[in-house]
Amino acid sequence: MRIDVFSIFPTMVGDFASQSLLGRAAQKGLLDIRVHDLREHTTDVHRTVDDSPFGGGAGMVLRAEPIYASVEAAEPPRPLFLLGPGGRRLDQDMAKELAETGGFSMLCGRYEGVDDRVRTDLCDGELSIGDYVLGGGEVAAMVVLEAVGRLIPGVMGNAESAGDESFSHGLLEYPQFTKPAVFRDMEVPEVLRSGDHGRIERWRRSRALLRTMAARPDLMEARGGLSEADQALLAEFPPES
Ligand code: ADE
Repeated sequence: MRIDVFSIFPTMVGDFASQSLLGRAAQKGLLDIRVHDLREHTTDVHRTVDDSPFGGGAGMVLRAEPIYASVEAAEPPRPLFLLGPGGRRLDQDMAKELAETGGFSMLCGRYEGVDDRVRTDLCDGELSIGDYVLGGGEVAAMVVLEAVGRLIPGVMGNAESAGDESFSHGLLEYPQFTKPAVFRDMEVPEVLRSGDHGRIERWRRSRALLRTMAARPDLMEARGGLSEADQALLAEFPPES
């Protein structure tokens, strides 16, 4: 899978993409992340990527020419998303959708804006990582890379580990523990040390349900509340058990 990123801070995104999970995915040949420096396609000695807005006002606007030149030279995989708070909001379903494509691309906006011809003519859509305003799209690009990258088959070591977790079944994750069994008088639930895998699985699901009900009632509602099987689990493992 190929993902191209266009930015005026390419090392920020490139360094991130070369480490940890994404770096390993690249080494395994599963992911080809290409970061392009928009300044490479400027024509003046100062490598100017921005200019003042027509109509006046504060701030600078990223110019269309270097962005078009950079995209046309790279011929990146489409769709090309402009990153900004006005876009479709990234969630786990969208991350999955993107992970199932052959590739896509992201353009990091900066400063007060990007020449709107880039948005309307060059880009195919807009993508936001949440309802807040960042100084630029670089952090958003990194969020998308990580959320999507880990869903590409083979990227995570254990084939199950990308699926069995928060949001994958519309529930938050069950609590996890490791050694020691007792730490500062806090004991790991007995069931997890019982070796009874059926019981462990049922307990985990009951805890995922309880956690989701307490912290994210909206997710509970979205999945239609508690099924009969869920209610049976909560009867077997009540909250205080
Ligand atoms: N650039 C600035 N704010 C952003 C956001 N919320 N999501 C994606 N890119 C952005």
